[in-house]
Amino acid sequence: MAVERTLSIIKPDATRRNLTGKINARFEEKGLRIVGQKRLQLTRAQAEAFYGVHRERSFFGELVDFMISGPVVVQVLEGENAVLANREIMGATNPANAEPGTIRADFAESIEANSVHGSDSLENANREVSFFFSEIEIAG
Ligand code: TYD
Repeated sequence: MAVERTLSIIKPDATRRNLTGKINARFEEKGLRIVGQKRLQLTRAQAEAFYGVHRERSFFGELVDFMISGPVVVQVLEGENAVLANREIMGATNPANAEPGTIRADFAESIEANSVHGSDSLENANREVSFFFSEIEIAG
């Protein structure tokens, strides 16, 4: 098993409802370590760049509006198979399809306001961690 780092974002619907601590507990209970973390108000340009892969999708404009509707907490999670482990802790994109006990099943409001982001591959994780963090902001 490989120790990996993945990017997580606690989204505005969750920061608005003061759920940062409850969500962080889910990661720590499952053995992921929060090795970098900061709270940010994204600009429109930052949100558009981060979600650039979805630029042509019908939901892109609303997704960007939502991601800048309040502060986010960006974080680096580290652990064994962290990318897949975090996807399992998060649950399916649409909370209606998420397994009970996952963050999205328990906290998400909708497919858009779904409380957390997590990188979907190691390649994307490396890119997304570098998007938000410099090496000196990560302490493993
Ligand atoms: P996606 O990368 O497909 O999902 P995930 O976050 O599980 O990796 O989509 C990115 C985000 O876009 C998703 O978390 C919420 C939003 N989204 C919508 O608002 N509507 C949709 O139909 C889809 C597929 C995603």
